[in-house]
Amino acid sequence: MKPFAVKDKFIPRGRIRLVGDKSIAHRALIIGALSRNKTIIRNFPVHDDSLATLNTLVAFGAKIERNNKQVLVWGFQGLRKPRKPVFVNNSGTTLRLILGVLAGTDFETKIIAGKYLSARPMSRVDKPLRLMGARITAKKRGSEEYPPLVIRGGKLKGILYRPPVASAQVKSAILLAGLSASGKTRVIEKIRTRDHTERMLKTFGANITVNKNSITLIPDRSLSSPGVIYIPGDISSAAFLVVLAIIIPGAKIVIERVSLNPGRCGIINVLKRMGAKIKVEPFKNRKMQGFEPMGNLIVTSGKLKATVVKPSEVPSLIDELPVFMVAACFAEGATVIKGAGELRFKEADRIDSMLTNLISMGADIHSIKSGNLENIIIKGKGFLNGAKLKSFGDHRIAMSMVVAALAAKGKSRLDDISCISKSFPGFLTTLKSLLR
Ligand code: S3P
Repeated sequence: MKPFAVKDKFIPRGRIRLVGDKSIAHRALIIGALSRNKTIIRNFPVHDDSLATLNTLVAFGAKIERNNKQVLVWGFQGLRKPRKPVFVNNSGTTLRLILGVLAGTDFETKIIAGKYLSARPMSRVDKPLRLMGARITAKKRGSEEYPPLVIRGGKLKGILYRPPVASAQVKSAILLAGLSASGKTRVIEKIRTRDHTERMLKTFGANITVNKNSITLIPDRSLSSPGVIYIPGDISSAAFLVVLAIIIPGAKIVIERVSLNPGRCGIINVLKRMGAKIKVEPFKNRKMQGFEPMGNLIVTSGKLKATVVKPSEVPSLIDELPVFMVAACFAEGATVIKGAGELRFKEADRIDSMLTNLISMGADIHSIKSGNLENIIIKGKGFLNGAKLKSFGDHRIAMSMVVAALAAKGKSRLDDISCISKSFPGFLTTLKSLLR
């Protein structure tokens, strides 16, 4: 347990650069390990989740070296059956993406997860992989499946799949399995999700085409690394600082080289629609920009007006919704987040945990079912009160509550912030660097 207390307030001002995007880092490691030549990954984020993927690949015989500056992934050596069950810690992206890779191997693997991931649903990914030919057994509770899982790869065949839930992890697992399937694999999404896997596969020379919501992969060539991959700063980590700078009067920050992938910019688009002063300066230099767009964000504090977040927008800010709820508490009017139900299946139930914390800070927030959608309604009061807060073991709840506590009137205490190491171990140091 590592508690955190907020007594003194500060006005964030300054210029920062963040380590690489977590989602892109997972893909760079996995696809790098599957390609025939070596990949150097720059601006690699070192945190629990990225290390979970790195260690998992090493357990399958991949050769990966890491120093302070970069990660070197040697080319494909052929994945080997691990000597013991593989532990993926609490990284859902590691587990779901690696299942896609393992679906095409000729051995059996047992995968064990940490406490939080062991409570997250897996049938969304098991089902399509079984349709492709993988054999998977998992712990069952009711009609849902959970880790630990045993997967035995097989001769896969390509499928056409329409995921019932909008999930980039599910789409990515299917595409990675498609690399070793016979025939083409097509995924058609109802709502588009982040396209990092598609971009990374393309960068490594895969025969992948994207036509609106339809992605087609033809496994007719081996993957070849472009050599160096630069990972832009993590927009999900930037979001905490963006919201903080908006809601604390007098704040102004610049965040350099942030990922501007359109599938991830929902938080910027929605906050701008609410009147937030965010200037986006995309990098024009193609060499710097690489295969993922990036740029600088200049954020100045200011007033927010309520908005409605549509279900079609939700995947583009799914991980930012907890801190967005904090921002909505400071907006004028009632903000509605429509179709937020997937938040219940993250590291913690992010609806219950945010409601518990924000209500204890005096917020007017509730969730309501409307047909098959779950909506969250936040009536902005323009302030929050300091309170005793809980992280629920979830990194994004912990960081959202640090932001809320810094903007609140009076003192707050958060029970445990050790979970922040999952995605942003430098969070507090970064905040201190903005102390003026
Ligand atoms: C991720 C996809 C999202 C997101 C997660 C990372 C990814 O999950 O919440 O933090 O890297 O593909 P879902 O695909 O389950 O929505």
